[in-house]
Amino acid sequence: MSVKRARNVRQMFGRIVPRYDLLNRLMSLGMDSRWRRAAAAAAQPAGGLALDLGTGTGDLALELRRRGAARIVGVDFSGEMLAAARAKATSAGSASVSWALGDALRLPFPKDTFDCVTNGFLLRNLADLRAGLAEMARVLKPGGRLVCLDMTQPPPGLFGSLYRLYFNRLMPPLAGAISGDSTAYRYLPNSLQGFPDASELAAMLTDIGLRRVRVRRLAGGTVALHAARKPMPDA
Ligand SMILES: C[S@@+](CC[C@H](N)C(=O)[O-])C[C@H]1O[C@@H](n2cnc3c(N)ncnc32)[C@H](O)[C@@H]1O
Repeated sequence: MSVKRARNVRQMFGRIVPRYDLLNRLMSLGMDSRWRRAAAAAAQPAGGLALDLGTGTGDLALELRRRGAARIVGVDFSGEMLAAARAKATSAGSASVSWALGDALRLPFPKDTFDCVTNGFLLRNLADLRAGLAEMARVLKPGGRLVCLDMTQPPPGLFGSLYRLYFNRLMPPLAGAISGDSTAYRYLPNSLQGFPDASELAAMLTDIGLRRVRVRRLAGGTVALHAARKPMPDA
């Protein structure tokens, strides 16, 4: 079941690459770049080795570069997404970024490798969220930072209701028409169903052994930025 789901997700992201960046800008009303900048800042990558998981077209990986990471690896299981990331990085002259095909649930890296691990809008797509987070913690060096940026359950009240109307009803047909792929943008609101809210996700990060978990809510509480540290062995 989870193998089939992962294959469907991979194929879907492969199909929407050509309009992916444009739709991100439109759907977030231009705010998504700012959210990625905040995620890159929270990772404090300067001088270190960074991993960006579910890197897609590479925007968060390139933000880590701008923040001074010495070396960045962007991993995604969609070859089409990685091709777009590679093209973008080449035109931006980012020689210190490399791109690798891989599954976030089975990372091809030894434990304690990276100074920071980031992911933007990946978590809702994972067939096994807890296993994915544990895998990210495994490859982090002790003292390293995990930063997760994703949608979260909108807050209660009028704004939350209006946002739900936009996200569940208005956005999918509009984005479907622009991308030419209505299935993909119907999947987007579905992927938030059953996804833990920001506090539950914070508790999960603590539960897998990370410490100093911080949550910052963005965009009126509809997007959450989680940052956490892997403890030193004697802590
Ligand atoms: C919504 S996109 C986010 C892309 C990028 N991080 C951003 O900020 O725009 C999710 C990405 O995660 C990738 N992905 C989903 N599940 C994955 C997995 N198990 N392993 C690796 N990549 C995965 C998809 O192929 C897609 O490129």
